[in-house]
Order: sequence, then structure tokens, then C-alpha cells
Amino acid sequence: MVERNEDSSLSAKQAAKRAEELRAELRRHEHLYYVMDAPVISDAEYDKLMNELKHIEAAHAELMTPDSPTQRVGGKPAEGFAKVRHSRPMLSLDNAYTEEELRDWDRRVHELAGGLPVEYTCELKLDGLSLALHYEGAPDGGAHLVRGLTRGDGQVGEDVTLNVRTIRSVPLSISPERLKKAGTPQDFEVRGETVMPEKAFEEMNKEREAAGETPAVNPRNAAAGTLRTKDPTMVAKRRLDVYGYFLLSGGEYLPIGQEATLDALTALGFRVNPHRGKVHTVEQMMTFIARAGEQRATLGYDIDGVVMKVDAQATQQRLGYTGRAPRWAIAYKFSAEQAITQMVDIMITTGRTGKLTPTAVLQPVFVGGATISRATLHNADWIERMGLRIGDWVKVERGGDVIPKVAEIVEDAEHPRGEHKYVYPTHCLVCGQAAVREEGEADYRCVNLDCPALLQGALEHWGSRGVMNIEGLGEASAAQLLEKELVRSVADLYRLTEEQLVSLDRWGKKSAQGLLGQIERSKHAGLARVLMGLGIRFVGERTAEEIAQEFGSMDAIVNASAEELERVEEVGPRISEAITDFFARPANRELIEQLKTLGVGMTAEKKQRSTQLAGLTFVLTGTLPNLSREDAKAKIEAAGGKVSGSVSKKTNYVVAGEDAGSKLEKAEQLKVPVIDEAGLLNLLASEEPGS
Ligand code: IVH
Repeated sequence: MVERNEDSSLSAKQAAKRAEELRAELRRHEHLYYVMDAPVISDAEYDKLMNELKHIEAAHAELMTPDSPTQRVGGKPAEGFAKVRHSRPMLSLDNAYTEEELRDWDRRVHELAGGLPVEYTCELKLDGLSLALHYEGAPDGGAHLVRGLTRGDGQVGEDVTLNVRTIRSVPLSISPERLKKAGTPQDFEVRGETVMPEKAFEEMNKEREAAGETPAVNPRNAAAGTLRTKDPTMVAKRRLDVYGYFLLSGGEYLPIGQEATLDALTALGFRVNPHRGKVHTVEQMMTFIARAGEQRATLGYDIDGVVMKVDAQATQQRLGYTGRAPRWAIAYKFSAEQAITQMVDIMITTGRTGKLTPTAVLQPVFVGGATISRATLHNADWIERMGLRIGDWVKVERGGDVIPKVAEIVEDAEHPRGEHKYVYPTHCLVCGQAAVREEGEADYRCVNLDCPALLQGALEHWGSRGVMNIEGLGEASAAQLLEKELVRSVADLYRLTEEQLVSLDRWGKKSAQGLLGQIERSKHAGLARVLMGLGIRFVGERTAEEIAQEFGSMDAIVNASAEELERVEEVGPRISEAITDFFARPANRELIEQLKTLGVGMTAEKKQRSTQLAGLTFVLTGTLPNLSREDAKAKIEAAGGKVSGSVSKKTNYVVAGEDAGSKLEKAEQLKVPVIDEAGLLNLLASEEPGS
């Protein structure tokens, strides 16, 4: 009997029709949102349509299509990425940094063009990574996405199709109407640039920092890392955008010129960067470049220059290619604006994570459109290596990023070196405690949990959703509690009273009780959360979970040696050291004691890990009377043993059932002991060594 629910109650025909409608509607909204930046419905309405389609597809499996909007996140990619040769090499661009270099290029173009038309299309040079998207004809006369390739070495790229499918500005299918409008064959290839918008980049780094992971250096690295992750659901969570700039078929550019290519891409439904222009002269290029420079700060994504492309394809072909780049295009790269000034001091601040950050205090100087008197300095390592002195003259740079930085020390007749070598403080300047600098690290860190600079960060972290989940303990309330000195460590949270809270500005009885209730509840968050809440470097959610399960109590963790900690799969020497260092500090041990006394739970269910088969390798063959192959394997592995697919001298036991074949013969040949199911169960039931 077929279960009747909302959707299966639709006739097959009605369902097919509705699914098609919904798909068209969802595609339209995805295009409006991710390509045009002009949504016309709310996210909730969009989700509603998506859910309706998911329901129909669940009830009518035959209606599912691979390019349905519900299928953006599908299977898992195989280990590594398959290498695929590009239809034609993905080349690079030659660079120009000055107007003079642009003039030289323009002159050469005119010479080589031999009278053919020379017009240029100017585009922004997006700072991301290039991508090739392959589409093939679909039965409905349209086309669908079949492959997405990274640039790789330019000749051979990596197949990142599953990840690319999750990028919403990449259409999974193209309707016959759009193909017709664009004048594009059914089989075609789009090349373009993948970027991570600044906002998505900031969010990602916030999450990474909260998890104790190193933040990505810039959006380009973040985009590259994201595109090459092995988990498409991760890619789907982070926003990437692809902007198209080339259109090919059969490994040849469509013969329509660059400007028409951008129009055709728009007609196909791809995201195309709106900042573009057609120019004839170098003056006009410089105007476009200057405007791009002004827009740069507010685009919401990184650019590192402007690309000029000869528009007409006939001219492009006449000009041809050098080994690595087309002669018909050039990248004008923005150079960071620089100025020289004197460094009058170095300021060290302690950030929320404990990092001691050096900042150069400068004689005010005008650079990149603004007067600056502070600039970031590389790190302690650089300062020591360069022997930086107060009074040194330095070159400061202001790139696209708003924060200026010290690029180098200047030394010549006009710019003598300063007198006093700067001695880097080895103490936190906020709390006065010794800071640590681990081998191989470029900065010092304050590891005193009571340091006021760290406290604000520590409180927020402790209260955050992924940690102790104390609603109402956010940035503002944490600051209030610290300011009024009601709290000096996370332990003090558990000593707060209603009276104290209502004495604060804007706090009433109800909000005070609410927060106290949340704090009380957090006592049961469990060992893993507490461990994460301590903010030990590198100890994010997964690691904390695993450690908690392995050790079962905070006491066991506090007293564990590095070696013992490293028995946890997630934990390597870097993490074990961070943990042992943390607990070696009396202040941190004291904090744990206080939390315990105040009733914060610090135990976890210990994962039962038996070891009676540790170090033994088994091979299973034939049919066992009771256990399935999977069950037998699971039992062996749970007891610490390994299961291998083939018999060798290293095999300890072959477990043979009925109809055992060549593996049994091999075992006999190699004199590997053969046991049956009962024998295996016997081994499993035997006492653990030493217990
Ligand atoms: S055209 C023949 N157009 O810049 C290959 N590239 O430095 C030329 N890029 O690998 C590609 N924005 O990843 C082109 N509007 C744009 C671009 C652009 C960014 C990247 C692309 C290329 C690199 C060369």
C-alpha cells in the first residue's frame, strides 16, 4: 500500500508539472539573488519553495533530475581530485605596472595588428582563481553543467565538479531559450574567476578563530582552499562567486569578440562583472584604471588590477600568444602606494586571543589618499631579525586593504638608522605576566587567563553558542561585567547574584534572572564544552570532543602527559604541547578547581576502547555462520584489531567460513593460522591483557 501524504496525493502528472514549475521558479530566484544581486522574495519564501520541491522529489523519486536546485550538494568526491586536461591551455597574463608600460604594449598591439581594428575591453582583475566550467547538451535542447576544473598547471586542471555545483552563481542547467538568446552551441565552456566575497571571508575566519584554527590570510587563499576541500557541504556553506569572462566551444573562443562574449555570458545567466568598458586609447585606459582604484575599497571583493583585452577576435588571432600569455591582453596591476617616514615608537597590544601585536607609531605621513600615523609591523621574529630600532626610517605601504603596513627599513645618507635597538618585551604589557613564544612561531602570546585583555574575549567565547551557550552573555554584557569588576574570570560568572546584575545599567529583574538561569544551565554543558571554553590553542570542537571521550574527566586531562594526549587520533605534538603548557600554569589549574567547586560539570562518558586485539591483523574469507562480514569487521576493529583484504606474511589470523576460496589456500601456503567464527569470538571474549 502506498502511504498517502500531501505530495504523493498529487497524481504523478500533477507532481511532474508542479516540480517543473518549482524548479523554474527556484532557478529564477537563484539567478536574481546570486547573479543579479536583486532578490525579489525573502529567504523564507525561497526555503518554502525549496521544501515543497524536496517533498515532491522525495515522494516521486522518478521525478528527480541531477540538475534540480535540490541537488546542489550531492555525493562525496573521491579521494584527491581527478586530473583533467583543459580543452585549451589556461594561460596567464603579462603585467604592466605603469602608464609607460601600457603605452609600450598599446604600440606593439597596433604594430602587430597590421591595420585590423584595435579596440579594448577593460575589465576588473578579480583576485581569485580561475575556473573552467563545461556544459553539454541536455535532452530538452538546453545544456547542463558536467564539469568544473581548476586551472591546475594551466594544461591539466583538477576536477572539482561536486564543489562547483554548490556555487549558486553557477547555473546547473541552461534553458534552450537562454542558449538561443546568447547564440551559444549546446556544448560550451565558460572560463572565469572564483572569488570569496569579503563578508563571507570574514565570517569564515571568525568561525575558524573560534575553533582555534588558523585564519585564512586573504580571500583568494580562502577561495582556493574552499574550492579544493573534500566536503562539498562545506563549500555550500561558504559563499563563493564565479564571474565569467571567456566563452569557448570545442577548445576555441566563440568568434564574437570580448564585449559580445560578456553579453552572451550575461544572456546565459552567468554572473558577469558589471564594471567594464570599451576604450580606444591609453588615456581612456588610465581613466578606467583610476576609477577602478577608487571603487576598489567598496566593491565587497578583492581586485588587484585591471585587464585590458583587444576586443575583435580577428585581431586577437593576428596577435597570437607568447608561451605563457596572449599578446592581445594585459593586466595593469595596482601597486601598493608607498611612503617613507620615521618610526618614533613601537606599541605592543594584547589581543583577545593573547597574541602580542606590534604596531609602529609613525611620524604622520600622507599615503594612498590618507594621513597615517600607525602601521602594522610584521611580527616579533621580523623585528628581531631586522634589528629594528626606534627612530628608523621605514617604507610604509597602503594596498587595497585599509590597514597600512611597514614594508621595509630604509637606510641611506638621508635616512640614518635609529640609535636604540628595540628590545621586544617578553611580558604581556597588560597583565605583566611572562608571555610565551613557541619554537617556530613568529609572535609572543599572553597565556594568562586572568589577563584583562584576554578576559573580554574569554567571556564571550565561554558564552558563545558552540561553547557553553549562555544566551545573554555577549560582547556588551561581558564588557559591562568586566567594567564593574563583577567578573574577573569565567569562574566568577558562577558567583554572580541577581542583586549585582540589576545594579547594572539597563538590567532589570527579568533579564538578570534570565542570564542567571542560562549560567546555571551551562553547568551541565559537559566536559568537551568546558575544555573548548578554556580557549586552549588548536582545541576546537572535534578535538575537545575526542579528548573528553578518551579521558572522561578534567582531572585526567589536566594530569595527562603529551604522550598520553597524543593517543587521541586528532592530537599531534602541536596540540598536545598547547594543552600541557596550558595546564602547567598554576593560574589555569586554579581556574579549573574553582569551576569544579562552583558546580561546573567536568566529566564525560568514556569511550569504551578495548585493546585485546591491538596490533593484530585479520583477513576474513567465506561465509561465517552467524556474523556478517561487516559485523565481524566491526567487532575486530572495536577491539583494536585491523582487517585487511589480502593474506600476507603479516596477517596474524585468517577467519574462514563456508566456501572460503583462494585466501584460505594462501593462508595455508604462508602458514598463517586459520580460525573459524567460534575461534574469533573466543579471541574477542578473552581477557584484556593486564586487566
Ligand atoms: S583573462 C589568457 N580576465 O588573472 C588568460 N583574467 O594574472 C587570461 N583574472 O589566470 C585570463 N580577472 O585567473 C582574465 N577579468 C579577467 C580576470 C582574470 C582575474 C585572473 C585569471 C588569470 C590571472 C592572470
